[in-house]
Amino acid sequence: MPHERTPGWVAEPQLGSWAEDMGKFVEQDLTKIAAVYCLVVILLLFSWPPVPAVLLGTALLVLRRYLAGGRYFSEARLDGRTVLVTGASGGIGQETARQLYRRGARVVLACRDVSKGRVAANGIRLGLPPTGGSLSVKRLDLTSLNSVREFVKDFNHTEQSLDVLINNAGVMWRPFEKTEDGFELAFQVNHLAPFLLTILLLDKLKAAPQGRIINVSSMANYFTNGINFANLNGEETFNSSSQYSNTKLMNIAFASELSRRLALLGGRDRMGRGAQRREERNT
Ligand SMILES: NC(=O)c1ccc[n+]([C@@H]2O[C@H](COP(=O)([O-])OP(=O)(O)OC[C@H]3O[C@@H](n4cnc5c(N)ncnc54)[C@H](OP(=O)(O)O)[C@@H]3O)[C@@H](O)[C@H]2O)c1
Repeated sequence: MPHERTPGWVAEPQLGSWAEDMGKFVEQDLTKIAAVYCLVVILLLFSWPPVPAVLLGTALLVLRRYLAGGRYFSEARLDGRTVLVTGASGGIGQETARQLYRRGARVVLACRDVSKGRVAANGIRLGLPPTGGSLSVKRLDLTSLNSVREFVKDFNHTEQSLDVLINNAGVMWRPFEKTEDGFELAFQVNHLAPFLLTILLLDKLKAAPQGRIINVSSMANYFTNGINFANLNGEETFNSSSQYSNTKLMNIAFASELSRRLALLGGRDRMGRGAQRREERNT
């Protein structure tokens, strides 16, 4: 028999427990609860402005902390290690270079604008006491596959090995534009050029005792319905936000597959932890 609803704020007397009472109340009076909530918010806004400001500030801080993801606190020294960071003239790349240099690494800042890269390197140097590490700036423009090849030619000439490659440089939400190689800009800068760079540097990475490759992706990789292989270059339809998400998904797919292939060549201990976990799940 259908349960008769009691109108108004009064919970039905036949309900057994406080929890049931509340459940029923919420179910029946959502509109009123929403109205009371709005009233409280309005009262707070007009009575004591710091309260909503504090609530909003706290919510933003929690969101920021959540989006920042995990943190790595190691102070392990990196003396003698060579690390290459692409897009180190600012943002995450510059901060990454700073932390690696602070721990004694030889950091190569690969930047499309060398003078901007030098300013970034000087900024890092000036902000720290001598660390035992070094900073050098080299030109790398990911909108040009020729620039990638030139960069690697120079790097191979000057460096014996590469301990860590950090594919950080990237562009976000850019309007449709083609590179000199005929590829859509974000597709090339975020995926194709780092792909080529990585493959061309593999021998140097293998020459290091424990070569590592890091592809900087983004949570944006979740916001895609999958890569449309018929429209990789964005010529049929183009949406800058989806294209960014797609390229960030490509970063992960590339890391995953390369990791698997390198593990086949060099043993499981050369696999990244993500790839190891995936392999464990699949076996
Ligand atoms: N910021 C975020 O919230 C966020 C979140 C998730 C993931 N990420 C990822 O983190 C990475 C770095 O982001 P960011 O926030 O630090 O961005 P950013 O401040 O805009 O820095 C991007 C870097 O990439 C370089 N770059 C751009 N186009 C290039 C090209 N054609 N060739 C070589 N270098 C080029 C830039 O050089 P110029 O200085 O010359 O422009 C700059 O050094 C990106 O891969 C991004 O997708 C960022």
